[in-house]
Amino acid sequence: MILIKLGGSIITDKNKPLAARPEVIDRLAREIASTGEKFIIVHGGGSFGHFKAAEHCIQEGYKSEEQSQAIADIQYDMRILNSMVVDGFHKASMPVASIPSGAISVFDDGRIVEFPVDVLSHYLDIGITPITFGDVVVDRTRGVCICSGDDIMQHLAKNLEVTKCIFVTEVDGMYQNYPPGDGEEPIPVVVPGDDISFSSDRPDVTGGMERKLELMFDIAATGSEVLIVNGLVPDRVKKAIMGEDFVGTVVKGGN
Ligand code: IPE
Repeated sequence: MILIKLGGSIITDKNKPLAARPEVIDRLAREIASTGEKFIIVHGGGSFGHFKAAEHCIQEGYKSEEQSQAIADIQYDMRILNSMVVDGFHKASMPVASIPSGAISVFDDGRIVEFPVDVLSHYLDIGITPITFGDVVVDRTRGVCICSGDDIMQHLAKNLEVTKCIFVTEVDGMYQNYPPGDGEEPIPVVVPGDDISFSSDRPDVTGGMERKLELMFDIAATGSEVLIVNGLVPDRVKKAIMGEDFVGTVVKGGN
């Protein structure tokens, strides 16, 4: 089974609040559906999640009543984004089931403690592709926190038989510097210990590229292939799924 994360940067314009990219979503859904492989699809929040979560400090936990409306609003926005992703697969005639992480998971101090993977594998067994996504989730210590799509990818890779994880993004792969310099080429293969410089001013409540890369190393250590692919270029995701030559970055585990 292949895990695909449709990053917030590909399905939304991360610079503008609530700006989705429905044509990109629909094309990616068609590419993925056309391969006939077995998938779990995970997607991020992009401009439907990070702005409000940062503004109301949701990642630090539940501190005041003022946050209640913000939590409900973020969940509402994430379900709108999710319905666009579901719609893309529906139009591509791929049977999918939407499973919000906020409805099925429990966190403790920002870490997943419960996420019932058997719900997802049951859908897979009956020919339905589960689609789950980053969300506001309940947290035993903090009250609430943000579950990122990357947290879910790591949890699924550790608990299910996963052959390949594909992180679909808006850039050609992993770069030496964040943000990348003009004309900088992506790195074809990244291994733990590589010298990468991270700095970004865009609000990212789930830790940005640095944390994403740590999680990817962790996933690669489970034995699954981990690939970063630019979803704005048609057919790259399809090629990565089919194991054909593709432009992007391969992330290798530590051992
Ligand atoms: C964030 O999910 C979800 C919310 C902020 C509610 P991700 O952290 O996976 O989103 P992206 O892919 O980085 O945008």
